[in-house]
Amino acid sequence: MIQWPRWIPVVARLASVFLLSACGRDGAAPTDPDDVTQWSGDPAAFRWNLPAGVSAPVVPRDNPMSDAKVELGRRLFYDTRLSVNGAFSCASCHRQEFAFADAKNLSVGATGEVHPRNSIGLSNAAYQLSFGWAAPSTNSFELHALIPMFGDAPIEMGLKGRESQVVSDLQGVALYRQLFAVAYAGESSPIRIENVVRSIAAFQRTILSFNAPIDRYRRGDAAALSAAAVRGMALFESRGCTQCHAGADFTLATVPGRAAEAFANTGLYNIGGTGTYPARNRGLMEVTGSAMDMGRMKIPSLRNVALTFPYGHDGSVGSLDAMLENYARGGRLMQTGPNAGDGRDNPYKDSRLRAFALPPGDKADLLAFLQALTDSAFVTNTTLANPWR
Ligand code: HEC
Ligand code: HEC
Repeated sequence: MIQWPRWIPVVARLASVFLLSACGRDGAAPTDPDDVTQWSGDPAAFRWNLPAGVSAPVVPRDNPMSDAKVELGRRLFYDTRLSVNGAFSCASCHRQEFAFADAKNLSVGATGEVHPRNSIGLSNAAYQLSFGWAAPSTNSFELHALIPMFGDAPIEMGLKGRESQVVSDLQGVALYRQLFAVAYAGESSPIRIENVVRSIAAFQRTILSFNAPIDRYRRGDAAALSAAAVRGMALFESRGCTQCHAGADFTLATVPGRAAEAFANTGLYNIGGTGTYPARNRGLMEVTGSAMDMGRMKIPSLRNVALTFPYGHDGSVGSLDAMLENYARGGRLMQTGPNAGDGRDNPYKDSRLRAFALPPGDKADLLAFLQALTDSAFVTNTTLANPWR
């Protein structure tokens, strides 16, 4: 039975029941996003919008999904009130048109501080076993969100020490007072940081992309891929890419039970022939302290990869073409500059990588395959878009 908050008038409750059955979260945009009565706080009323055969992501027991919570999370994800300068939001570095990456080599935070890493696209991030390029113990959206919000090395949103300010800013917005009350019914002061984090996490669990040509092909529509993309798919397998970019999201990082294999040094650097990666970007080594983990980064999902340029953990690979050249060579050659060295000979390079010949026809086919991982409906899906516009 749905527990309606007392303040919602009876007429609105009836309207809400009608609207929910009419829209759900199946992609139909609500008529008036500011009309809070259409959002249900009942977890049982929440519907995943997944193709047949795709299982729902894991949801923590203490943060069940609901329509109201997801809408609240969407509001917060796009809300510049969640930043020290009032001009930044999660979406500043995770933009829908770029599959929720940011098209910058390195992200820039609210205070102008440059992040050492490239923003990660969020397509199907709900299935990731860990969050960040090299943070194996950050294993939920709830844990991860604290980093951009409150972290200070680097500063992203710059909210450290401003918790009560954020809460009072949110309390000043009527829509938030209403949505928090529906999403966290029964709590006496629902507007608190834990619930901000929970809501953003719930929204991120709906950033789902299963409509690329490759998905339609996998569902049995042979015509969804061009002949070139089909040839590229075969090359992707035979050139060893699927050893790491495997499974539904083209990464072991979303394949349950394979998390330990989901990090690799791909020979992007080999500073002075010592195997070293640049400071602040040494991968798992920064967590474990073990030299063997030098340069080991999470294998990124390749969903919507054509939109998540530039590439690599530090955005230092400008194009998919350049990425393929590096793989074919067996590592990247940096001829000049402070990071000069031949990544092919990096002693910590993953043994799954093997150089291969890359004639122009093969390259074109591989690129056609990578382009076929783009879900154009995803980047225009209104339920994922900025609700404040
Ligand atoms: C200053 C830009 C910036 C802002 C603001 C920002 N992010 Fe990120 N995000 C990044 C970067 C850069 C990474 C990669 C970080 C790393 O590996 O160290 C990242 C990684 C992530 C990941 C990991 C994805 C994966 O598959 O591993 C998630 C989830 C995420 N961000 C969500 C958020 C949320 C939620 C917010 C708002 C609360 C937010 N981000 C704000 C830049 C940003
Ligand atoms: C040993 C595991 C492994 C293999 C094999 C592998 N990759 Fe990767 N791939 C990675 C890792 C790890 C990264 C991130 C590396 C970094 O930034 O330091 C990556 C990054 C990429 C990126 C950039 C994605 C982004 O968002 O930045 C593309 C594209 C890519 N790989 C395609 C391929 C292709 C094509 C092949 C086969 C020729 C391949 N990979 C083989 C592990 C692998």
